[in-house]
Amino acid sequence: MKISPAETVCAHDAVPEAILFGATPAMQNLRSRVNRVAATDVPILIEGESGTGKDLIASFVHARSPWNLSRFVKVSCPAIPSALLESEMFGYERGAFTGAKEAKPGWVELADGGTLFLDELSELALPLQAKLLQLLQDGQFSRVGGQAQQKANVRIICASPQRLEEQVRIGRFREDLFYRVNVVTLRLPPLRERRQDIPALTMYFLDRYNTKYGRGLSGLRPVFLRRLCLHDWPGNIRELENVLKTYVVLDADEAVLDEMLDGHKAYEPERTANTSGVSLKSMTREAAREVERKVILDVLQSNNWNRKKAARQLNISYRSLFYKLRDAGIPSKRALPLTIPPVSSEGD
Ligand SMILES: Nc1ncnc2c1ncn2[C@@H]1O[C@H](COP(=O)(O)OP(=O)(O)OP(=O)(O)O)[C@@H](O)[C@H]1O
Ligand SMILES: [Mg+2]
Repeated sequence: MKISPAETVCAHDAVPEAILFGATPAMQNLRSRVNRVAATDVPILIEGESGTGKDLIASFVHARSPWNLSRFVKVSCPAIPSALLESEMFGYERGAFTGAKEAKPGWVELADGGTLFLDELSELALPLQAKLLQLLQDGQFSRVGGQAQQKANVRIICASPQRLEEQVRIGRFREDLFYRVNVVTLRLPPLRERRQDIPALTMYFLDRYNTKYGRGLSGLRPVFLRRLCLHDWPGNIRELENVLKTYVVLDADEAVLDEMLDGHKAYEPERTANTSGVSLKSMTREAAREVERKVILDVLQSNNWNRKKAARQLNISYRSLFYKLRDAGIPSKRALPLTIPPVSSEGD
């Protein structure tokens, strides 16, 4: 059965619980809250900025619940036009619309006995909010084009990067539905509010990507670890993961890592796009510069930092490579491999 863009993957499996929750008081509170509510049938709302781990927590809750015997179905609300979303989510009967040659069950039925994870719930169109309200109230729904009411036993978890309450206030989200989905709220703190977890996360990602890509980078010097701890991380754990992944994949040195942190904008595309007053031209220029920087780094790396060879491969003069390196702030030589740091509780 084709179910895309809903997914039925439990993503948290790969992440050890100690890493998933870390050690900060806010995350420890969250952990005990999760353990208390996972096995109950109350709907859960997970709020947190992008990249804070909402998906991971949702699948963790599913795994710890009696609904884990059936599927975890993730529905990305904005990924599909609302007209289509209704029929995909609730299914349809034969002849319900042109092209509906056969009846088809929707994701709600697919998740029967399991968990339905509605991601970016605030993007759900108002007519669908009404149908979801009914599902939450009495577990009933009807397929598109169908008269019969059907029952589904699903655990509902919702996630929103925005405060849903605010969406209610501006009239984009039904208040009655808000109270239904918001029985238990799990608020994930941004990474900048749990900086003491950064060293452990760093070691975890270095280890993970070293293994995955067969590299031998064993750690960072405390000075760089501190740099990571003090960075703002607008893209949260996803951004940290991406930076460390790039670092491992490129087999780069810490100077490059330093540069990546300086190139702050490269990791906040959504912020840039949403900022009013930023011209399209400057955004495009910034993006092009970032791509160029990545390509140059890659080519330098594959040529063992031999700039002549790299310039040849890039089909530019040695001189222009030199200027590009300078403008991009890339060190013109690969620094010596740096030593292993004792990773402790550096941070705030
Ligand atoms: N607590 C964590 N421990 C380890 N890795 C994490 C943690 N939280 C997030 N990650 C990593 O960060 C990435 C983003 O996580 P996730 O998709 O769960 O975030 P999200 O809050 O759902 O983001 P978005 O709002 O963009 O959907 C994933 O690749 C995941 O591996
Ligand atoms: Mg998500």
